[in-house]
Amino acid sequence: MMYQILIILLLFTTVGLVKSHNEGGEWSCESESENRIEAIFKPGVITIDGHIDDWSDIDGFEFSLLPALDPHEDDAYKAGSMTVKAVHDGNNVFFMLEVNGKYAYSKGDNNKCPSVALMFQVGENATYHNMGGCKESPDSCSSKTCRGTEVDIMHFSIGNAIPGRLYGGNPIDNREGHGGDRFGHLVDLYTWTPHCRHLDGISPTGNDTSAQNDWKGAWWHDSFKVHSGFVAEDSPYSSEDQDGKYFFEFSRPLRTMDRLQQDVQFSIGQPTNMAVAFWYPEDGKPWHGSGHYSISCNWVPLDLPSSNSLATRAGSGSFSGAINAFSLLLSLVAFCSSIFVGYYVFKNKSIPFTPMDRL
Ligand SMILES: *[C@@H]1O[C@H](CO)[C@@H](O)[C@H](O)[C@H]1NC(C)=O
Ligand SMILES: *[C@@H]1O[C@H](CO)[C@@H](O)[C@H](O)[C@H]1NC(C)=O
Repeated sequence: MMYQILIILLLFTTVGLVKSHNEGGEWSCESESENRIEAIFKPGVITIDGHIDDWSDIDGFEFSLLPALDPHEDDAYKAGSMTVKAVHDGNNVFFMLEVNGKYAYSKGDNNKCPSVALMFQVGENATYHNMGGCKESPDSCSSKTCRGTEVDIMHFSIGNAIPGRLYGGNPIDNREGHGGDRFGHLVDLYTWTPHCRHLDGISPTGNDTSAQNDWKGAWWHDSFKVHSGFVAEDSPYSSEDQDGKYFFEFSRPLRTMDRLQQDVQFSIGQPTNMAVAFWYPEDGKPWHGSGHYSISCNWVPLDLPSSNSLATRAGSGSFSGAINAFSLLLSLVAFCSSIFVGYYVFKNKSIPFTPMDRL
């Protein structure tokens, strides 16, 4: 019996290993099928400030970071894996990314600072590989020719973003009706293929000013000593090459007012496919757009359970039995006291009626 369990366990672990390679130019990917991220319902715990103490009670999901375009395990990000945490509060979804990395910061030069992106499936036929996978060329891709392959992207480049400060959707860029962020470069994009990437609302065939940047986010590195609040003059905020971890926090409303199929729409109780990318200026060299790491070589389902599913999960224990017994006791007490009040009123018919307006 013990042997059988052991063999089954062994089988599972071997099947679960990442087998992803890109030999002979042909894309192939076998991601871990049990890869998932769960955004449990936990209202009122997360503040988007770059500080992660408020995430301590929330389970994280750990992923190795392999090169996105050629995912070989030998080429994994040297400093370690990425932990992804997520919660929702019924209105917004929150993400936290935690990744080891020596402090690297070059003010004003996004490519010499770490950078992260979240990508979500929007169109029903949008693939992880090739960011939607529309087959059209850069001159022919459009919302019509690439219908069904839309993906939504949030990209945060921190070269101008002060740690701990909030970036993303702001009244000035949102008034112009696009997904840009002139202050911190936390932008809301959509694509059909890697070479057809645009800010929400911007399109080669005409702009639509109904678009918005619906994301908010902040970043931090744990080598920082100041906790009261940085200003731009404090840059570079810490000394170069300090060991530590980078933290990135993001939030977005579950639903947006997008009418152009450029935003993912989250639904409680329904999984959404997502991906996470990470860029790092290795050995001080600036990164380039396609030189990013990814947490998986395929979509990773993001679950958004409702508050009910948590209650049922908690309800399976003896705790709910105690609650049931307690509520029965309470209703018995309420029933007895109502009989007593009724009897008392019946016995003392002389209780006068007092109209409310004379009180
Ligand atoms: C997705 O692909 C299927 C099969 O090719 C097709 O029937 C369907 O219309 C596509 N969906 C969209 C939105 O284009
Ligand atoms: C769309 O917006 C972009 C960025 O604001 C601008 O450069 C471009 O000229 C606009 N295109 C049209 C057709 O108005």
